[in-house]
Amino acid sequence: MERISVKKLLGTAPIHQEVEVNGWVKTFRSNRFIALNDGSTINNIQCVIDFEKFDEAIIKSISTGAAIKIKGNLVESQGRGQSVEIQVSEFQIHGTADADTYPIQPKKHSLEFLREKAHLRVRTNTFSAVMRLRSALSYAVHTYFQKNGFYYFHAPIITGSDAEGAGEMFRVTALDPKNPPLNENGDVNYKEDFFGKETNLTVSGQLEAEAYAMALGKVYTFGPTFRAENSNTSRHLAEFWMIEPEMAFHDLNDNMDLAEDFIKWVIKYILENCGDDLQFLEKRLLDEEKSKPQAERSELPLIEKLKFVADNNFKRVSYTEAIDILRNSKPNKKKKFEYIIEEWGADLQSEHERYLVEKHFKCPVILFDYPANIKAFYMRLNEDGKTVRAMDVLFPGIGEIVGGSQREERLEVLQQKMADLGIDEEELWWYLDLRKFGTAVHSGFGLGFERLVQFATGMGNIRDVIPFPRTPQNAAF
Ligand code: 4AD
Ligand code: MG
Repeated sequence: MERISVKKLLGTAPIHQEVEVNGWVKTFRSNRFIALNDGSTINNIQCVIDFEKFDEAIIKSISTGAAIKIKGNLVESQGRGQSVEIQVSEFQIHGTADADTYPIQPKKHSLEFLREKAHLRVRTNTFSAVMRLRSALSYAVHTYFQKNGFYYFHAPIITGSDAEGAGEMFRVTALDPKNPPLNENGDVNYKEDFFGKETNLTVSGQLEAEAYAMALGKVYTFGPTFRAENSNTSRHLAEFWMIEPEMAFHDLNDNMDLAEDFIKWVIKYILENCGDDLQFLEKRLLDEEKSKPQAERSELPLIEKLKFVADNNFKRVSYTEAIDILRNSKPNKKKKFEYIIEEWGADLQSEHERYLVEKHFKCPVILFDYPANIKAFYMRLNEDGKTVRAMDVLFPGIGEIVGGSQREERLEVLQQKMADLGIDEEELWWYLDLRKFGTAVHSGFGLGFERLVQFATGMGNIRDVIPFPRTPQNAAF
């Protein structure tokens, strides 16, 4: 007999045949109806037991969370709410789940409570839907790039360079922290460490991806990155996954085109392939919205919101234009932003970004040509000498989802910039080599995968879209 998934049972399996299915009990009603789920879909298969035919002790051991095997006949369902059901002829308990101590009860648990149970929360409908979508989005990311001539490039996790120059790195060391070797100045002597120098967990694979783009043409990374920034927000993780395409012979406009096309494509992919999970999450959000005041409710239901992004152009605006808009704007009744932008050159705060996207343009926005002094050292200086070819993609409800740029390809200009910022040329000698040997215009960006998953699922907190979130004071397991 073929072992069969719940998804298949509810979809394509022919009825009036014997089937075998394994899964976990969601609910058990009236000693008769088991709702069984195996993770293949948000929906459960109803399994009907004639309890008089089975031993009472076995019936008693069926409870929410138990893992069981069911054999029986797949028939049309008499009841409402499902098209088919299994008339159970045989069942076997793989493992019971004590109803008094099993944390995931058949009721609504708060997301905060479930965060404490990261190993079990994926057994809830919400988290199983989110994690299936996360998986589908990963597949879509690879498919998009592979179809479009990009090579998948594996950036190193342990690295000697600080790609963003922001000093937010986790140190990697094999030295005894209680007794590290010191040099004559009393500083830790990393030359005696495993790697013979100071090393860190990567904050971005970009610099290494540039090296590969300058030979393979178009590459992308998709891997974990790490930031030791102490940001306790609903948008920041200490460990997150980043997608970083890098393209030789592509300028900032090409880069913006790619970012927009790529995001639309992956959103369309889940709209076409993940309907059940999206509908479930949309309903969850609508229920949640009912408890909010009207003004805070989202204007569009989840699926409409995704379709809107997939089908409409993103608005492209220069930093200078954006600053003018913000200076002349009245964001709310108090008519003030918390942080007022006094002059050209100031960095935008998330309240400004969200105002532009959610109130002013009411669509995703790509901001470009930022002041050089608020962006990273590697960005291509514009002819005006004060802005760089940077771009950020801003999304409703999320803020910054993508950060990217055209890279400085001119050796002397890059050297000057590094000197101005006090970046040691010896640290990045190999990166400078790329400008000495066959340099060319090139561009790329980084998309924070969890922020994309947040947008796609409507989850408010980034901790709820990654299986085991790492945030300040939280890496219990
Ligand atoms: O803007 P960032 O810092 O850009 C870079 O790292 C570039 N080197 C990328 C490149 O050009 N190849 O980060 C890129 C994106 C952000 O827009 C955001 O979506 C996400 O990464 N991100 C985070 N996501 C979750 N938690 C954090 N702490 C994040 N920091 C950045
Ligand atoms: Mg950024």
